[in-house]
Amino acid sequence: MNSMMIFYLLYFLCLCLSVACVICVCVWNSLWRGGFAWDGSQLEFNWHPVLMVTGLVVLYGNGAVLYRIPLTWGYDKLPWKLLHAALMLLSLILSVVGLCAVFNYHNAKNIPNLYSLHSWIGIAATALFAIQWVAGFAGFLLPWTPLSMRKLLKPVHVWLGGSILILSIAASISGINEKLFFALKGQTNETQPYSSLPPEALVGNSLGVLIVVFGLIVLRILSTSEWQRPDSSPEDQTYAPILREESD
Ligand code: HEM
Repeated sequence: MNSMMIFYLLYFLCLCLSVACVICVCVWNSLWRGGFAWDGSQLEFNWHPVLMVTGLVVLYGNGAVLYRIPLTWGYDKLPWKLLHAALMLLSLILSVVGLCAVFNYHNAKNIPNLYSLHSWIGIAATALFAIQWVAGFAGFLLPWTPLSMRKLLKPVHVWLGGSILILSIAASISGINEKLFFALKGQTNETQPYSSLPPEALVGNSLGVLIVVFGLIVLRILSTSEWQRPDSSPEDQTYAPILREESD
């Protein structure tokens, strides 16, 4: 199988896993956790996993591999840069709303904030993502940023981008595990213990597996140099004259 076919196969898998992750996290929180509200109750908490998985895992991962799609290489880079920035901004907004949901819920129920390993990894992932977005916007989208600065920033941006994805996957898995331990104590007639692997636990565990496979595929696409947008493909028209002047 040639390299491009492998890319498209992995990319197709990536899209299927994206849909599967979003469906799975929504089904879990609708059918087993009672659905959604914005009132400081447990139902407000339920927005947290849905928005974090949709924003910081699925949208983020798809935004990260956008430049790797060979079909986009024949066109100017600027529209793809803008789409990349827009997808990442949407992902950041969903993540921040997802964090507001859990902080509101904790404050309403007098539960301490930021005590768990999950919350430390999660807050680090979101903070780094916010810094990465601002640095990426300033470095790659503002026309007056010097070319030398862009060259310096690019490898850091690529490395930090992959690291943030790893952190958000670690946060998602630890969050799912924590939630299943909290919810499935088996102390009431309604809940069976986690250890007896009731249907809810199967769905939660499967969501974790889907997220890990999605993350591994995104990281595989990002780490294959053959699938990087070639330097010879059209640069964005807006900056081309500025960049040429600077490199003269
Ligand atoms: C990228 C994904 C995620 C990030 C960045 C993240 C981040 C956070 C943060 C910062 C908190 C602390 C809130 C506070 O202290 O008030 C938190 C709490 C929590 N999250 Fe997540 N989360 C993510 C995904 C998930 C998922 C998928 C679940 C699954 C249900 C989950 C379950 C929980 C639970 C149960 C808490 C409350 C207990 C605790 O503070 O550890 N999280 N999360």
